[in-house]
Parts: sequence; structure tokens; C-alpha cells
Amino acid sequence: MSDVLTDAAAAAVRAGNPDTDPVLAEMTEYGHDEHFPIVGPDAGRFLRLLARLVGAERVFEFGSGFGYSAAWFADALPADGELVLTDFDPENLEKAREFLERTGDAEKCAFEAGDAFETFDAHDGPYDIVFVDCQKTRYADALDRAVPELRDGGLVVADNVLDGPASPAELRDAFGGNPPSDTAAGIAKYVEKAGEEPFETAIVPLGEGLAVSRYSP
Ligand SMILES: C[S@@+](CC[C@H](N)C(=O)[O-])C[C@H]1O[C@@H](n2cnc3c(N)ncnc32)[C@H](O)[C@@H]1O
Repeated sequence: MSDVLTDAAAAAVRAGNPDTDPVLAEMTEYGHDEHFPIVGPDAGRFLRLLARLVGAERVFEFGSGFGYSAAWFADALPADGELVLTDFDPENLEKAREFLERTGDAEKCAFEAGDAFETFDAHDGPYDIVFVDCQKTRYADALDRAVPELRDGGLVVADNVLDGPASPAELRDAFGGNPPSDTAAGIAKYVEKAGEEPFETAIVPLGEGLAVSRYSP
């Protein structure tokens, strides 16, 4: 995980807003130790806040890894809420299940191994939030698929729009119409699409950069 914020700014954010949940703190540490690309605590806390702000009851994740972003979302869902986690790797989802059992939120979760796009088609919306953190070349496709399954006022949130698999310099070139890689091109295409109706989008520089898009048909 690299942060868009400077080290000093990130340290200030965390000093004023520390991880208080021991399992979430352990998951942050686990992601760090395993070099697993998680959203990180600053973005995670913001995802949880977004879920609370829109009164989310149903969330779908394109790309869940070991359940870190999911653990933040799940914390905000009501007891009868539903969160669909997806990953190619069933071992990641087993780890996610272990962690979410410990946070007390596993019963809200469906752990679906396989291609997230196939899983998305196999589940019914409407969703309050669709979170996009899969292959960057497929981000725009995820946005298109989300549309008919979003409730009015629902959100699509995408990670890595400022840093990560594509560097800030690569993304700057991609946003300028000169993508140096398929990854950067995929993210630029997504951000461009998310900036058009029926979405209203803001880019939030937490973690590796989140694009937050409100759907209003
Ligand atoms: C960046 S990590 C997800 C991290 C997670 N959202 C978090 O912040 O805790 C991306 C994960 O998505 C999975 N993945 C990528 N594309 C996928 C797809 N199309 N279907 C299922 N899993 C996918 C990868 O296996 C990887 O574990």
C-alpha cells in the first residue's frame, strides 16, 4: 500500500483517527506483512463512513482479497444487511471468512470464489454500494454492469485512481489521453465514464485514491 498523502499528512490523519478495532488493526498489519494490496486504514474508514451516510444495506465488491475493505463495509451494515465478497482465489476468501467471523460480521457476507463479473451476474441487486477493486482493465465494464443494479442515490466507488498499479505519472499521462499501459488506460477510461451522467463523481485522495460516484438516473 502506498499513500497519495505525504507521510507527514498520513501520520497526522492516523494520529487523530487511530484504528481502535483490534481485528481491523490486525488486518491492516496482515496486509502490510503480506504485501497484499489493500485499501488501507484511511480509505477503509472512509468506505465505512460512506456506507453509513447512504444507509447502505447491500454492498457488492469486485475484488475482495482477504476481506479488508469488506470488513470496513460490513461494520456499517445492519444485522440483516448483505455484502457479496468476490475473489479468484478461494484461499483469500477463506481468510476473509476467518477475519469476518472474528469481527462478528460473517453472517452478513456471501463469499463467492471465481470471476467477480460472473458472480455479479448471478446475484440480484439493487445495491446501495458497488465497490470496484479488480483488474484495472475491467473497471469501466464494472461501472456499466453496476448501473442497472444500483438504487437511486447509490454509489460506485473505485480504488487506485491516483496511485498503485499505475503510478501518478502514468495516470496523469493516461488522463491526458496518452496512456502508457493498459492498466493506466483502464483507470482513465473508468474515471472519464464516471464523470458523465448518470453519475456525479469526486476523487478523494485517501489510500491510493478513491473515485466516489453517486448514481442518479
Ligand atoms: C486489490 S485486491 C482487493 C483488495 C480489497 N478490496 C481490500 O482493499 O481489502 C484485488 C483482489 O481482487 C481479485 N480480483 C481481481 N480481479 C478479479 C475478478 N475479475 N474476479 C475476482 N477476483 C478478482 C484478486 O485476486 C485480488 O485478490
